[in-house]
Amino acid sequence: MVAALEITGLTKVFGDLRAVDDVSFSVDAGQIYGFIGPNGAGKTTTMRVCATLQLPDSGDVRIEDYSVLDDPRKVRERLGFMPDAYGAYSSTTVFDYLDFFARAYKLKGKRRYSTLREVMEFTSLGPLRDKLTSSLSKGMKQRLCLAKTLLHDPAVMILDEPAAGLDPRARVELRELVRALAEMGKAILISSHILTELSEICDGVAVIEAGRIQARGPVNEIVKNLRPHSEIYLRCLENLQAVERRLSEFPRVRGVRREAEGITFDFEGDQPEQAELLANLVQEGLRPIEFASKATDLEDVFLKLTEGKVQ
Ligand SMILES: Nc1ncnc2c1ncn2[C@@H]1O[C@H](COP(=O)(O)OP(=O)(O)OP(=O)(O)O)[C@@H](O)[C@H]1O
Ligand SMILES: [Mg+2]
Repeated sequence: MVAALEITGLTKVFGDLRAVDDVSFSVDAGQIYGFIGPNGAGKTTTMRVCATLQLPDSGDVRIEDYSVLDDPRKVRERLGFMPDAYGAYSSTTVFDYLDFFARAYKLKGKRRYSTLREVMEFTSLGPLRDKLTSSLSKGMKQRLCLAKTLLHDPAVMILDEPAAGLDPRARVELRELVRALAEMGKAILISSHILTELSEICDGVAVIEAGRIQARGPVNEIVKNLRPHSEIYLRCLENLQAVERRLSEFPRVRGVRREAEGITFDFEGDQPEQAELLANLVQEGLRPIEFASKATDLEDVFLKLTEGKVQ
């Protein structure tokens, strides 16, 4: 089966700058893929090549097996691109704005009206249909832009930082819309500066910095590779000093540090070994009442992956 979106060896050069340098990854139908990187990493450039707005210097992008080089028209039919900034015509209403693009997509008669109705309903724009686009808030504008991107029912959607500038509620709403679109079978590539923002909804991510992919795959695997040990918090009913001493003697236990009521340490073993360690603590009469792996801080992971290089 071919991937809905397949990027292979993509390179884009501006003068001396390799803005995108040999980038490859793919997204299947029904998948949400995060594209994460700091400012200037090459996200927008990659997405613009996918959307046929820029030609690559080498490599290719295929949308449902149509190449941006050989079949750009077919690519545009199957792809919806939501840019990071878009121009709304200030003196148009929400309805007229969408109607204009629906006509541009050659939707006619009843079909155009039913599409407009469905898209406005999906993005909850119905009550705003007669509002001027210039009077919309940032969150409403983002929804309008998403609605425009959906008019031709694309199979692949590329969203460039759709959550930028949105308040927490609007972010949650956007996540729900994106999830619903993936459930309809669309392949979605979505960019962000922030790994945490996407980790919940993404099936996988590609982390890019200075044009190069630094890591790729499911978020939990990326986290595991960067942090081969887990950090565990332990609290026992026995004397803290005795617990600390005994714990330090166990294999694979490192960096034991005392906290107010318990102990935190790094453990280099896997989960069965963790279970064994806990069983030993119980057996030795240390009476553990809390034993928990600390959640990995994704911000930390992101900062480790990207050093903030600016080209
Ligand atoms: N048309 C252009 N001409 C020259 N340089 C460009 C052009 N477009 C992008 N660049 C450069 O390419 C690099 C990547 O830019 P790009 O916009 O793809 O980054 P980005 O990851 O989208 O960043 P941001 O998070 O700030 O949106 C930057 O160094 C940028 O200055
Ligand atoms: Mg960008």
